[in-house]
Amino acid sequence: MQIFNTVAELQNSLNALRNSGKTIGFVPTMGALHAGHISLVKKAKEENDYVLTSIFVNPTQFNNPDDLAKYPRIPAQDLPMLENAGCDFVFMPAVDEMYHGNTVSDRRNIQLGSLGEVLEAKHRPGHFDGVITIVRKLFEASGRSKAYFGLKDFQQLAVVRLLVKSENIPVEIIPCPIVREEDGLAMSSRNMRLTADQRKAATILSKALFEVKSHWESESIAELNARAEKIIATESAVRLEYFSIADRDTLLPLTEKKNAVICIAAYLGDIRLIDNILPE
Ligand code: PAJ
Repeated sequence: MQIFNTVAELQNSLNALRNSGKTIGFVPTMGALHAGHISLVKKAKEENDYVLTSIFVNPTQFNNPDDLAKYPRIPAQDLPMLENAGCDFVFMPAVDEMYHGNTVSDRRNIQLGSLGEVLEAKHRPGHFDGVITIVRKLFEASGRSKAYFGLKDFQQLAVVRLLVKSENIPVEIIPCPIVREEDGLAMSSRNMRLTADQRKAATILSKALFEVKSHWESESIAELNARAEKIIATESAVRLEYFSIADRDTLLPLTEKKNAVICIAAYLGDIRLIDNILPE
């Protein structure tokens, strides 16, 4: 497994491979890897000749400076996991390599519509501007590829699809299923910051999603919303930020049960977790 720290080194190696007809699967991450990330790497390996993973904690997408400071950075654990999963190349740039001393977002003229207004966009102002900024830079650095994104970050996936379409970027976006712990909690790099009690309480998020899914046919949207809120309220350690039965494309709240995704965001202490499920 080869590690690159600069865009120039990365482009040299990948261009040579592409010129000899090889395909590249790209998995962008912020590190602190878990089985969710590794599932993306394995899928990329199945579908391409070579796999590139990037590890870069992107400062511009953190609307909360404390979250950025506390975000786990553990390359000594990440690199062996990638090697075992069959990853061929790792791109680990310094902040300056990506931002050249100017760590600000530049969304350019991407129009996000409702995706830029609701759920994550509403509660994390500027977050998707930062995601767009870095994903564009990473796609420019990595070049033509298939890029693998988790459904865990449902709205991010929609935003990245929009970016690629708006700017005709030669990258094919491949969505990948959510990987969960045995008790249902969606895997997340932030889970490692939970205390034992918070970790236990955090299962209420996926429990609420599964419960709503199992009553999907028999209850109205209002009843399903009330059911979820009641379930979450049983865990005093969990502070619900939003629960939304939304349209998969616009992420606006639904009045009719069609094309739905059910999204949740909640805090345990200062740790913010998100999850979602497709009810049908
Ligand atoms: P990060 O949170 O590290 O996630 C990297 C990728 O792994 C994302 O596509 C995310 O959806 C996916 N992922 C995370 N947890 C998952 C799980 N439990 N199951 C399946 N996939 C999961 O998302 C980012 O980094 C950043 O915003 C990034 C796109 C790298 C831009 O900085």
